[in-house]
Formats: sequence, C-alpha cells, structure tokens
Amino acid sequence: MAFLADALSRVKPSATIAVAQKARDLKAKGRDVIGLGAGEPDFDTPDNVKDAAKAAIDRGETKYTPVSGIPELRKAIAEKFKRENGLDYKPEQTIVGTGGKQILFNAFMATLNPGDEVIIPAPYWVSYPEMVSICGGTPVFVETKQENNFKLTADELESVITPKTKWFIFNSPSNPTGAAYTHDELKVLTDVLLKHDHVWTLTDDMYEHLTFGDFKFATPVEVEPKLYDRTLTMNGVSKAYAMTGWRIGYAAGPLALIKAMDMIQGQQTSGASSIAQWAALEALNGPQDFVAKNKAIFEGRRDLVVSMLNQATGLVCPKPEGAFYVYPSCAGLIGKTAPSGKVIETDEDFVTELLEAEGVAVVHGSAFGLGPNFRISYATSEDLLEEACKRIQRFCAACR
Ligand SMILES: Cc1ncc(COP(=O)(O)O)c(C=O)c1O
Repeated sequence: MAFLADALSRVKPSATIAVAQKARDLKAKGRDVIGLGAGEPDFDTPDNVKDAAKAAIDRGETKYTPVSGIPELRKAIAEKFKRENGLDYKPEQTIVGTGGKQILFNAFMATLNPGDEVIIPAPYWVSYPEMVSICGGTPVFVETKQENNFKLTADELESVITPKTKWFIFNSPSNPTGAAYTHDELKVLTDVLLKHDHVWTLTDDMYEHLTFGDFKFATPVEVEPKLYDRTLTMNGVSKAYAMTGWRIGYAAGPLALIKAMDMIQGQQTSGASSIAQWAALEALNGPQDFVAKNKAIFEGRRDLVVSMLNQATGLVCPKPEGAFYVYPSCAGLIGKTAPSGKVIETDEDFVTELLEAEGVAVVHGSAFGLGPNFRISYATSEDLLEEACKRIQRFCAACR
C-alpha cells in the first residue's frame, strides 16, 4: 500500500506470534493442540507484587510518572545492579521502560544512523533485526554453531566487526537456545570488544535469573569493567517474576545515552505505567523465594524435554544452561517423508507437518536465523510437556 512508510517494507511480522495464532486457529476448530511457542512463564505474578500494585492504586499513584521512572524504582534498579552484578550505577544512569522491548527500541532510536551496523549472533530473538531495521540500522548476522552450544567464538565475533559497527548485541541466557555464557566464555568475547573502541555492547540480561544447577550468570561489564563506558545493560521483570503483562523493563549505562533514551521516551510513551512501576519495585526489593522456586521447576522440565527429544529419531537436542527454551536440530529428518506424504525440505516444513500430524506447535529455527532447528518453550506443565514430547517422538518415528 503506497500510503505506508518505506521502513515497513524492511520489517517482518513475528514468527512466534504467527505460530501462536495458528495453534489458536486449530484449537478453535476443535483440534487438540499443545502450544509450545509462547515466550512467557506459565506462572502467575507473585501475590506480594500484586498487592503492591493494588496498594499503589489505593494510594492514588495513578498519575504520570517522570519519563525515566519513579525515583524509588530507579534507586532499586541501581541497588539491584550492585547487589546481583557488582555494577556501580547511579539512579540517574538507569531508565525504566514499557518492557525490555521499549528499552532496546529506544537505545537503537537514540544511536543508529543509516549505514550503522549492529552485530546480531544467530540464532537470535526475532525482534532484534526488526528493531534495528526500523531504526535505520543494518543488522549484521553471525552464525553460531550447534557443536559450540550456540555460543559465539572470538574469531566469529572478530570476523564481523567493521568500522561501521555500532553495537554488538549479547543475550545470555539466550532466546531461542537457552545457552548461557560462563564468565570465561564471555571473557573471550569482551577481550575482542576491548580491541575495538568504537563498538558498544547492548547486553540483554532478561533471563538472568533463569539459570540451572550451579551455573553462575555473568554480564559483560562485570567480566570486563573497561567496557563500562560503552555498554548498555538491559534487564526486566517480565521473565524472572512472571510479569510479562505488566510491561516493565529497565537498563543502566552511560549518562549521555540514558539521557538520549529519556528524550525519545518523553516524546513517545512518557513514563511506564505508574502502577506497574510500583509492582516492579516490590518484585526487585521484596522476597526472592519465588525466583528460586520457579527456577527449580524449569530445571526439571528442561531435563525431561532434553532427554525425551534426544530419544526421538533424527533429533539432536543440546542441554542449555538457562531460560525456558530448547533448540533441537531436525537435520536428521530433512529429506524424509512426513505421514501426510509431503517431503520435509526445511525446518519450517518440519514444524508445519508436526502441527498437522500431532497438534504440537513449535517455532521453526529459520525464524531465528539458524536452522534446521526448532524452538520449544517449556513454560508449560510437565504433563503437557511429556505428552508433547511423546507426540514428537511418534511423528519423527513415522517419517520415512
Ligand atoms: C531475549 C528477550 N529480550 C527481551 C524481551 C522483551 O521482554 P519484555 O516483555 O520486557 O518486553 C524478550 C521477550 O520475549 C526476550 O525474549
């Protein structure tokens, strides 16, 4: 349509939302569908957080807030970074946005000029390239390898840095693979970044609290303090506190960047929801037992899913350190014929045939920039996961 902006031609709709819709459509037609596409915890927001929101309403905290967030929350964010990550940020170096999504978007808006390159390791969260494109930048993809558990190597990072590189996006634990970098694995990358003064790092730490066993989370500035002046550390309450609908994300970084992001947000949405900000304050400062409890639940589900998928003919599923996703390869099924008679040529064919034959909705890896794989979100009950994995095993065995 000629009326629409040219920028729209560079944007793809979200494949994860499309899969969820397809699953809903089939369900509406009476099909028994198990949806493993959703990127959100299946738990309810903790009661102490809900109560804080109700109290905020009753106190009349229902007016516009400062653009970058209420002072109480910015102070709590600065304290969180000190307490959990050993990072020193003043409250004025923090900003609260309407979800982590807005933080990322505003960071790109505030910094990208046409021709600027943004390095995005693949597979990636579907929104990164689209946000970069909307803001006029150029996404530069660098593929990781399944045999390296989808973690970027120093050489791979070095190979895509150019004089035009503005940002390197780092996401650990990762959506879609669940892979998380240890301190030493990250140090290898920060050593490369140290050599390139003009490259900034945008670290998306959204899944920080979802790591398993004795894995210890690490974030770039903690590993290499010399990157402090050129790193934006983003985080949020959506995944850790089951608060996806409240829409609160936050970041800390150099003051000049935070101020630029504040200016954009001031002309865009202004401050995030006042009520949700008071709820987020309670999430950060209140009891943290909710996080530990859910981590243990997710870990049990991960072990179940990884084990069952590795018993399916033709699938290979690495065991990730965090988040609530697995990213198995379906390379062993490419070229085979599905029960419908269709030859599976791509990972998209695989997920389409799986949905048709067994009513299990997953997202094809090519949507995340690396295949042939698919993403399973295990943010659903163990019973449903077991049933879904049985169906996947049956489907794989039926492909000839
Ligand atoms: C890697 C990653 N970053 C950021 C976000 C956005 O989170 P929010 O709900 O806070 O906007 C998501 C949500 O799916 C995500 O998976």
